[in-house]
Amino acid sequence: MLNDLFTETWKELECGAREENHPFNICSLATFETPTQIKQRFVNLRKVTKKKSLLFYTDIRSSKIEHLRANPAASVVFYNHLLHLQLFLRGKIKLHTDDELWEDHRLKVDGRSINDYNTKYPPGKKIKNPLEVKRTNDLNFAVLELVPDGIEYLKLRAEPNRLRALFEKKDEEWEKTFLIP
Ligand SMILES: Cc1cc2nc3c(=O)[nH]c(=O)nc-3n(C[C@H](O)[C@H](O)[C@H](O)COP(=O)(O)O)c2cc1C
Repeated sequence: MLNDLFTETWKELECGAREENHPFNICSLATFETPTQIKQRFVNLRKVTKKKSLLFYTDIRSSKIEHLRANPAASVVFYNHLLHLQLFLRGKIKLHTDDELWEDHRLKVDGRSINDYNTKYPPGKKIKNPLEVKRTNDLNFAVLELVPDGIEYLKLRAEPNRLRALFEKKDEEWEKTFLIP
């Protein structure tokens, strides 16, 4: 049964990355803004790789990049209200800014989504007029790869079906156990 929960975890994450309307298409990503302060923000899940890492896109000038350069530790949390399923994943984030993986994903950025990465000034800069955002031909695009080493699965349906499980990566193997919900 633990293996079924693990399989469900990855199946649901893959659906989230593929389907825009899936509840797992969006998650909250937490990073260390300072050594003692956490920041969370929503991001779109773009892909689940064969090696079970999660890919996100961002502007390379956004403040999360600075946070991750200082400390790559990060976590994400997803909630599917239809399944009553919460998934929490923690691990480290690798930044991709000019390698093959980055190149593959940069090619997928087209149409309106180009505007997410081409502002003249960096995201978060103070401006007077939100209707006058200057753009350039540069694409300040980065891929964040979360390599998880711990996952918590929690399904909070009515008793007796409350399920909580922990999956931990040890020496490239996933150890699985149930937890008290
Ligand atoms: C529904 C939703 C989806 C978002 N998706 C992304 C995303 O995929 N990548 C991203 O960098 N920011 C995304 N954002 C904006 C972030 O929440 C955040 O405001 C922005 O990335 C700046 O964060 P930072 O200054 O901590 O780096 C999204 C916001 C919302 C509300």
